[in-house]
Amino acid sequence: MMRESDLSEKLNIRQEAPGDYAGVYALTKAAFDGTEHCDGDEQELPGRLRGRVEFIPKLSLVAELGGRLVGHIMFSPITIGGHSALCMGPVSVLPEFQSRGVGSALIEKGHAVARSLGFSVCVLVGHENYYPRFGYEPISRHGITFPFEAPEDCKMVKFLSEDGKDVRGAAVFPPELEPPKEQFTEEQLQESLQAIASLLGKCEKAQEKLEAGAAQHTLMMNRIRALQISKSLIEKAMGEGAGE
Ligand SMILES: CC(C)(COP(=O)(O)OP(=O)(O)OC[C@H]1O[C@@H](n2cnc3c(N)ncnc32)[C@H](O)[C@@H]1OP(=O)(O)O)[C@@H](O)C(=O)NCCC(=O)NCCS
Repeated sequence: MMRESDLSEKLNIRQEAPGDYAGVYALTKAAFDGTEHCDGDEQELPGRLRGRVEFIPKLSLVAELGGRLVGHIMFSPITIGGHSALCMGPVSVLPEFQSRGVGSALIEKGHAVARSLGFSVCVLVGHENYYPRFGYEPISRHGITFPFEAPEDCKMVKFLSEDGKDVRGAAVFPPELEPPKEQFTEEQLQESLQAIASLLGKCEKAQEKLEAGAAQHTLMMNRIRALQISKSLIEKAMGEGAGE
């Protein structure tokens, strides 16, 4: 059902052109600004993904309203268990146009283009309350794994056609789409190094003591054994003497 303020009928959704790059940068920045899970540099992502040799221009779409860019979506090629697939993202709608069907229209159009290019599977990491309406389900139900940590319900897959249903296994993403790895400061690294050096020193001392203890133990055992032999020899000698 169409909402009263739904804009989808008025949108022109088309392939992004180089002349849109600056507008896409600005709208991505505006869309993600202050959102709960933003990394702060989402606006850099479209440029980085366009720079990859695998970039598919037909899968980067913009939504125009009266000649103004109001939304953008892109899909990048990945593999899942060696099969070719897509990853959706980023998807951005200008804040003042959100919740009026722009995101939905971009996603549906993107799926249609992806199907026409022969793709049968699409994954994403995103809001667990938003994407299920487009048929996305948790990857854990389908034997698919991602190489990074994210809340289970946010890692999702959609099968664009029946051909995709058998696709399972480990997904391999372009590094641009993987969440940033935790960075340590020089100070934190120095602290960790000192803590390790101190522990290592303690371990080495303990090891020396253990080795010294083991050597003394062996010496003592040999002495006891020598004394036992001497004792039994003396006892034997005494017994033999008593019998004479
Ligand atoms: C997420 C986004 C692309 C959706 O586009 P949109 O045009 O606002 O969405 P639509 O109008 O198609 O759909 C609106 C519905 O999505 C829901 N929705 C929008 N953003 C949501 C979010 N962050 N989490 C959950 N639901 C969301 C709305 O509540 C609304 O629900 P309703 O239909 O039940 O009323 C857009 O809101 C956006 O750019 N957000 C900021 C950037 C972002 O978070 N991108 C996605 C990263 S995973």
